[in-house]
Amino acid sequence: MNATLDRALLDEVSGFIAERMGLHFPEERWPDLARGLKTAGEELGFESPDACVRWLRTRKLTTRQIETLASHLTVGETYFFRDPASFEALEREILPPLVAKRSREGRTFRFWSAGCCTGEEAYSLAITCARALPDLKSWNVSILATDINPKFLAKAEAGVYGAWSFRGVPGGLRERFFSPVSDKNLAIAPAVRKLVRFGHLNLAEDVYPSLHNHTNAMDVIFCRNVLMYLTPDHQRRVVAALHRCLVDGGWLVVSPAEGNDLLFPMFSAESIGGVLLYRRNPPATRVASRPEPSPSAPARAGPPSGPARTGAPTLPRPPTFASPGANPLTLARTQANQGRLEEALAACRNALAAERTNPTAYFLYATICDELGRPRKRSKRWARSSTSTRTSSSPTTRWAVSTGRSAGRRSQCATSRSRWSSSPREARRSSCPSPTG
Ligand SMILES: C[S@@+](CC[C@H](N)C(=O)[O-])C[C@H]1O[C@@H](n2cnc3c(N)ncnc32)[C@H](O)[C@@H]1O
Repeated sequence: MNATLDRALLDEVSGFIAERMGLHFPEERWPDLARGLKTAGEELGFESPDACVRWLRTRKLTTRQIETLASHLTVGETYFFRDPASFEALEREILPPLVAKRSREGRTFRFWSAGCCTGEEAYSLAITCARALPDLKSWNVSILATDINPKFLAKAEAGVYGAWSFRGVPGGLRERFFSPVSDKNLAIAPAVRKLVRFGHLNLAEDVYPSLHNHTNAMDVIFCRNVLMYLTPDHQRRVVAALHRCLVDGGWLVVSPAEGNDLLFPMFSAESIGGVLLYRRNPPATRVASRPEPSPSAPARAGPPSGPARTGAPTLPRPPTFASPGANPLTLARTQANQGRLEEALAACRNALAAERTNPTAYFLYATICDELGRPRKRSKRWARSSTSTRTSSSPTTRWAVSTGRSAGRRSQCATSRSRWSSSPREARRSSCPSPTG
């Protein structure tokens, strides 16, 4: 196979794949790249890998074609409770204070498994929440799970797993949270299944945080064994964007192999139960503890600009909220990204009071209503505005069309709701009035 793809083509195509998917194929991984291109070429109907690669060079690929390529070039190794120390840290150290705080403030959590593969990580998060919250039904737990590979997502949605996925599962959990569906397979319990919403998201291209793909105001993000497949440049960009997706005090969890001193300068690194976790703006009273950098553990990525850190963050803290004098639409977006949805709704109304036909403000207003689980009444103006800027969607709308990328590039009004934005949020359900009365 390698013989049929010349080195110059592989070099060129690896650059293209890095650009569109963030995937890193240095020369030593060209055999993997060539294998993936061969099977992708077969699926796309090409007679030879060479023909596929030549076609890749000349075409602007659609999202669907990128997904096909991704399904042959990504690595799908995962299992339940992989790296159990991370889940122990979550259960013992992160969840108890979060539960105590949120018991007083809305009884809600937002978690994200970014690069969720076939779903085992997301369901492990859901099981951890179910164990930590005996009164689970009175909480609004939202676990977002995204991946670039649609085949992985289809398996994740099905929630049915064979023995190999359970190789790390602590005793008793299998019986409590799964039920047999055949001799060999177990299905995740519906009560746990419904906590997780799966969707397509390309970490290298899509925009996040964004209300449109529900990547805003996260309490905890698991992005494990994903960064290691990305180019150093994409690693830095993804980490910076994930940082913005977290609420103050929120946590980023990467795999033990991915922790390094240089990639996370905007986080405070904390060692919990032997696992290094990254925290956004921890409360001032909490002293960041972090093991000394090991000289024998070289950084995987090249150094981002900025000083090396030794403890608490040394980079200036970015402002958490937009300044009071900010444009109301900017303010609304910032507040929404911070999870301050009621305030964001009020700021949207102010934006619409200032500019009554602004489709972006209408779109944001509608998205926040959806996020709050509130039906929105439509004013005539809203209806006009949304029809003039609507994008197409099918009943099985994939997130690719409702991501911030789409929203950012086109001034769209979404009547298309992603498949999980309609999930019930009874606790906060009430009606959103027409934004302009
Ligand atoms: C090795 S799996 C890790 C699964 C899980 N997080 C774990 O640690 O067990 C890596 C996942 O990252 C996904 N991935 C790779 N590049 C991606 C990208 N640009 N956007 C989103 N997901 C990506 C792959 O499709 C794959 O499912």
